[in-house]
Amino acid sequence: MKRVLTIKAKEGMVIAGDVYTDGGHLVITKGTVLDKEIIEKLKYYSVFDFFIVEESLISYEQDDLERMIFSDENVIGEDESYYKKIKQTEKFKKFEGMFNESVVKVEKSINDMVFRNSPIQVNELLEDVKKITQEFKPDVRLFDMVHCIEGYDDLTYVHSVNVALISRIISMWMKYSEEEQDMVTRGGLLHDIGKLMIPKDVITKPGRLTPTEYALVQSHPIHGYNILKNQDIDEHVKNCALMHHERCDGEGYPSKLAYNEIDPYARIVAIADVYDAMTSNRVYRAGLCPYDVISIFEENVEAYDPEVIMSVLERIANSYINNEVILNDDLEGKIVMVNKYKLGKPVVLVGGAYVDLSKEKNIRITALK
Ligand SMILES: [Fe+2]
Repeated sequence: MKRVLTIKAKEGMVIAGDVYTDGGHLVITKGTVLDKEIIEKLKYYSVFDFFIVEESLISYEQDDLERMIFSDENVIGEDESYYKKIKQTEKFKKFEGMFNESVVKVEKSINDMVFRNSPIQVNELLEDVKKITQEFKPDVRLFDMVHCIEGYDDLTYVHSVNVALISRIISMWMKYSEEEQDMVTRGGLLHDIGKLMIPKDVITKPGRLTPTEYALVQSHPIHGYNILKNQDIDEHVKNCALMHHERCDGEGYPSKLAYNEIDPYARIVAIADVYDAMTSNRVYRAGLCPYDVISIFEENVEAYDPEVIMSVLERIANSYINNEVILNDDLEGKIVMVNKYKLGKPVVLVGGAYVDLSKEKNIRITALK
């Protein structure tokens, strides 16, 4: 038997015991095979978790978390007004220019290394990312600008710069030294380099991957390490490529390493990688609202570096205090207070009433306004 969070339910899983609501009502019975409708039912009744027959657990790609967490009907609309406002600012236009310049260089440099055997010029690439964090205040608004970047066909290079930026900002929040910040930035830039060895149609496939395709995608950390192993770069950077899908609870891949076996820089890149995967826009779905992202991290907190994850989530949650938000059922409100123990469920002022989302299980923030 294995415990599965409802948010991670997948079609085909077989229920190992009767599932009840908090109020004691039977929702589904032992032996039920999950399908789309039943998964919806579990979510509707706010069932937090359940047990499944372990053999029915299909392995999945952590990097493609969004494929399983947010099925079509869960996809929220693009947070139109909030991100639209950001995109119209001069600040964003400047950011976009610097960002795009960095992406072009990353693409060229990585391709030269992988396909022409040129030595990687990672320090030049690092300088571009560094400049961005020097030019703009390294806070959550920078994450929001990262979210607004779009228009690329090949997401690997954009994703690399995103993860480098987010990793660097996290390391700044964690008060890492400049040298350490540089290390994690290099790690972010090169973490997914192994994806160049995977057929592009598999990497960009919007639907569910077949087991063979998953196995292929899951081989990218090893490919990445092999590409970098003879390059003149620090071992920590190579480890970021190899270990960014390892998880602190031992549930990651390729080696199911435990917390203390995972390179500390790879543990930061892992958080930045998942954050970017969840918030960035894809052809087939809009990025998730930061509060959904926080809740998903909170439900799976043991997978990440405990020291880093809580301080990152707290910082993100706190930075949206006073922000207007849209709730499901088309309600609107304003975030007034953050609950330290449930960061994804703040107290929201809705039409003169204070609504504590940690207690109102059927109400959630769907978008920033
Ligand atoms: Fe990856």
